[in-house]
Amino acid sequence: MTDLVRRILVTSALPYANGHIHLGHLVEYIQTDIFVRFQKLRGHQALYLCADDTHGTAIMIRARAEGRGERELIAAMREAHLADFGGFQIDFDHYGSTDSEANRTHCGEIWQSLRNRGLVTTRDVQQLYDTTAGVFLADRFVRGTCPRCQTADQYGDSCEQCGAAYTPADLVDPVSTLSGTRPEVRSAEHLFVTLEQMHGFLNDWTQRSGALDPRIANYLAGHFLGEPLRDWDISRPAPYFGFEIPDAPGHYWYVWFDAPIGYLAATSEWCAAHGDSFDAWWRRDGAAPTAEIHHFIGKDITYFHTLFWPAMLEAAGLALPKRVHVHGFLTVNGQKMSKSRGTFLLARTYLDHLDPGMLRYYYAAKLSGGIDDLDLNLEEFAAKGNADLVGKVVNLASRTARWLEQTGLAAQYPDDGGLFATAAADGAAIAEAYEACDFARAMRTIMQAADRANAYVDAEQPWKLAKAGPESAAKLQEVASVSLNLFRQIAVYLAPVLPVFAVQAGELVGGPITSWNESQRPLTGQPVGTFRSLMRRIEPAQIEALLADSLKLSGTPPTHPTPSSQPGTKGTTSMEQHAAPSDSGEPLAAEPLAPECTIDDFTKIDLRVARVVAAEEVPEAKKLLRLTISLGGDATRTVFAGIKGFHTPESLVGRLVVVVANLAPRQMKFGLSEGMVAAASGAGATGVYLLSPDSGALPGMRLH
Ligand code: MSP
Ligand code: ZN
Repeated sequence: MTDLVRRILVTSALPYANGHIHLGHLVEYIQTDIFVRFQKLRGHQALYLCADDTHGTAIMIRARAEGRGERELIAAMREAHLADFGGFQIDFDHYGSTDSEANRTHCGEIWQSLRNRGLVTTRDVQQLYDTTAGVFLADRFVRGTCPRCQTADQYGDSCEQCGAAYTPADLVDPVSTLSGTRPEVRSAEHLFVTLEQMHGFLNDWTQRSGALDPRIANYLAGHFLGEPLRDWDISRPAPYFGFEIPDAPGHYWYVWFDAPIGYLAATSEWCAAHGDSFDAWWRRDGAAPTAEIHHFIGKDITYFHTLFWPAMLEAAGLALPKRVHVHGFLTVNGQKMSKSRGTFLLARTYLDHLDPGMLRYYYAAKLSGGIDDLDLNLEEFAAKGNADLVGKVVNLASRTARWLEQTGLAAQYPDDGGLFATAAADGAAIAEAYEACDFARAMRTIMQAADRANAYVDAEQPWKLAKAGPESAAKLQEVASVSLNLFRQIAVYLAPVLPVFAVQAGELVGGPITSWNESQRPLTGQPVGTFRSLMRRIEPAQIEALLADSLKLSGTPPTHPTPSSQPGTKGTTSMEQHAAPSDSGEPLAAEPLAPECTIDDFTKIDLRVARVVAAEEVPEAKKLLRLTISLGGDATRTVFAGIKGFHTPESLVGRLVVVVANLAPRQMKFGLSEGMVAAASGAGATGVYLLSPDSGALPGMRLH
């Protein structure tokens, strides 16, 4: 490789220590591991750093529920996490903990920088306090009646019935899920980072540094950067499991403050163990940084990694990430992972039944570097692994290796019609795809090489040569040598995805795979080992067993699992709240959400169900239909709707629609429009979609 040796520091988000690793998490850890292994294979110096995210209310509560100390709980969880990651061949260079001395030190340094730059302010915050449990309640530990629609048993921050967002103090009849008692509103002092002072920097960095996918940059611009940035509440009053703020006794850093700093702590610990310098990775001394920093995260934590974290780094004079790679969420068979369907799949349960390499390959084949969600379709998973890895790749070796056990590879690489050279030339494109995290494209190109290799074997029919006797022995050795070389070449390309398979392939022929360059030259004259099964087919029974076990493990879930009711040793992640459906993120990205509004803003808009009683074309207007709508009784209105071409007038008469009923009337060229019909459309969308209420709704009903 003529490339300079790059220094690349890579992180995955730090998994919470209050739950086990599941297949959703693994989308991230497998992806990052592939990226790092690829960089190492290319000869670069890459570090893969991660840690457990150990602090916060959830851990504190869980430890209490289990009747043990927080540190005992996080130590046990660390073991479990490391075992799961090891099982999936995820190879961290260092795995730390946010509850470490190194992290406390780095937190103190960053804090000092924030103070020095006048970025810290203090303010009272009203929060619900559970007097029985003796803790301030995070939003998810409070339930009560929605202040807007009066639905009972809603979370402290939002209503599942009407979607209202509020603060726990607004809840009617709030109840603490910890003690079942009514919490009281208490005021406590909190410390804030005044992010607005970094607004200019964040505009610049998010929009122009090239660190973010344009969709993410647009989302931030539309969502946050268009108005003053709110102060970030980074402290919690005691009792809290975390680090006490040195110059603010009784106050603790909020878990999201110390979590990303865990990346720095992990670097320090690695450096201490390897005699390297922290500064060489994270300091910038005016000059361009010597190292590249890459963060891999899920889309749910974009905000923390693209606003708060860069602001903290900037304030502390540390290097900024070269790239924040954001990925989507995992769905299973097209739906959110679900405990009741048995599709809440824990890493451990998977490992009990299936080959980790199969999941690594499947994820690689589905990841193209974007933020779209990714679906684990279990049928496709089995079919793809079997067809590609067993049917194409392993098959190349299993069909030909045995004829070389005695003779080894041919002394000269035979004429293969250009197959090896073609696949060697593909190496640049495959590497480029890996570099761009478009692993799907890399896998497709590799499988095309495997297809060509198999076509060669099919055409040469070595099994016939083997039967033909001694006069065909030389030809047989040639054909088998070509096939095995093409096999090894593919194993080099697949090594970042399938490290264990790559080791086994090396044991069969050619020795350990240590460099990408090994894909560029065929081997000659080398001994060939005894072929043993490198990967087994996935059988339907294994998948059934996986699902059955997952169902058993999760038991019957409560509809709204509350922290105190979660079983002791099982996964208690926020999966159910986090996972998104597998719909494309494009419409939302194309039109980012409007700035936040209050309930009062919303209630000003009077949305009503209405029935279309007449509809006609407006011949002079390209897009408009004139609708007469009824709000019930004899309340009718005339509205003009831009839906011509999408709906015929006849199809509309009689149907229910939603109208903005209190919109100021507007004089148009063709008449007075007395309202607006609600319809969905999006940038680049091909249609305009009217909204219909569920059956039972009546004209005149208000939308809440
Ligand atoms: N502790 C925080 C991260 C702190 S980083 C300084 C956290 N932990 S987590 O355990 O909830 O998630 C860890 C990573 O896994 C996050 O990047 C998250 O987006 C990702 N995933 C968790 N569930 C996921 C899916 N179902 N699908 C894909 N990624 C998922 O967030
Ligand atoms: Zn509500």
